[in-house]
Amino acid sequence: MANLMEMDPEGIKSAIASGGVRIAVIGLGWMGLPTACILADRGARVTGVDSDEGIVEAVSNGEPPIQEPGLKQLLERLVKGGRLKATTDIAGAAAESDAFIIVVPTAVGRDGGADYRAIEKASKGIAEGMRPGSLVILESTCGPGVTERVVGGTIEKASGLRAGRDYGLAHSPIRAMAGRALQDLQTYPRVVGGIDARSLEAAAAIKEVMTKGGVVKVRDLRTAEATKLFEAVYRDVNIALANELAILSEKLGIDYIEAMRAANTQPYSHLHVPGAGVGGHCLPIYPYLLASSASEHGVSLKLVMESRHLNEDMPRHVARLCADALRASGRSLRRARVCILGVAFRANVKEARLSPSLELARILSRRGAILKAYDPFFSRAELSKMGLSSEPTLLQTISGAHCAIITVPHDEFKALDVRALASNMAKSPCLVDCAHIIDPAEAEKAGFIYRGVGRGLWSK
Ligand SMILES: NC(=O)c1ccc[n+]([C@@H]2O[C@H](COP(=O)([O-])OP(=O)(O)OC[C@H]3O[C@@H](n4cnc5c(N)ncnc54)[C@H](O)[C@@H]3O)[C@@H](O)[C@H]2O)c1
Repeated sequence: MANLMEMDPEGIKSAIASGGVRIAVIGLGWMGLPTACILADRGARVTGVDSDEGIVEAVSNGEPPIQEPGLKQLLERLVKGGRLKATTDIAGAAAESDAFIIVVPTAVGRDGGADYRAIEKASKGIAEGMRPGSLVILESTCGPGVTERVVGGTIEKASGLRAGRDYGLAHSPIRAMAGRALQDLQTYPRVVGGIDARSLEAAAAIKEVMTKGGVVKVRDLRTAEATKLFEAVYRDVNIALANELAILSEKLGIDYIEAMRAANTQPYSHLHVPGAGVGGHCLPIYPYLLASSASEHGVSLKLVMESRHLNEDMPRHVARLCADALRASGRSLRRARVCILGVAFRANVKEARLSPSLELARILSRRGAILKAYDPFFSRAELSKMGLSSEPTLLQTISGAHCAIITVPHDEFKALDVRALASNMAKSPCLVDCAHIIDPAEAEKAGFIYRGVGRGLWSK
């Protein structure tokens, strides 16, 4: 077995290429499975570990449990070729691995505090089988200090092995989006920090094997951990700014999109497009992780949290736009037939975790609307599991509806014929476009009562 802590970076890279390095990837989700596949494709002998038996069974059969372009063919080939296997037995995988990559979820508790229990559990499992000389890389997003405290602390308590002395410990945050993970993981520059220089060099060598984008080595674990959260809150705050200015534009009777485009001709202005809110597994969670770390140091993140709450409130704002459009058509939300077009949190991905559309559906249902939803990426059975009733096609879903709400710019929605949409709906139909894919003037010409996030010109 390879002792990565005694090898130089070039030695690690060539050992990976010649099949001499065994890597266990813990967590085979949206990010872990593509990571495992890329490493196996480069030559490493990879064991994927997941606590979910169904996921392990699917991966072992070469069937990815998630939809990522190119992943199915790659996984099938790697499993058939014996380059990648999967198991639920973390201690067994640890006993036969030289390096560990932890890609388990990080969560936020009901009190808004960070929940790192999955990282702790994975670390304990690794500790049961690992040898001195191994390398552990935490890739799950976390607050500064967590890699050393939670991973290092748990491993030391369970095995007596100390990070930096007996094994290598590094952090390398994942920079990739669901729906394009394989591409992003192989092209984006990768940030790496280590508990010491040897850990940093060894982890950087593994990342260099994975990505063409190069590696950004930072001074320590905390800097690497902070990088990811800083990137995320930068985005969340900027989206909140766009949403706030969009809501103001509605009141002012101006078109935010027109104002945004004009403002962005100034080289320092990069105003974002507003929308129905922010979903997915990252942005809704990371500000809380950072705020949790900040509060441990007596710091309150006012701007970051105000922005987060503003984004969380957007589904309520969209429900208000819907109620306003219905009022203009002489109806109330109560008993109105409303269709949500788009359940995914982002365009063209099959991912609905923390999707604003789900929150919007809850709000509209509570207010008495009769709801249906459609999303080309989810089957009727999958929508039903989310508590959403649907029809087989978009036109069937909107048939006879009083209001359609477009939440994300899926390609299928961009190709919509606005006149066909209107003619399939009830008399005086309403359209709320949060994705900015339908020209408001065209919508009105087609007979719609139109509302859009930030489209104040059409709010009166
Ligand atoms: N999804 C994204 O777009 C994205 C992007 C960047 C970073 N991240 C970060 O990457 C990390 C993983 O995210 P994800 O989206 O891949 O999560 P995911 O929920 O898709 O997958 C996590 C997997 O880990 C498994 N798991 C949980 N606890 C385990 C344990 N103790 N042992 C073994 N397996 C365990 C789960 O069964 C699941 O299959 C998170 O910290 C997330 O914030 C995610």
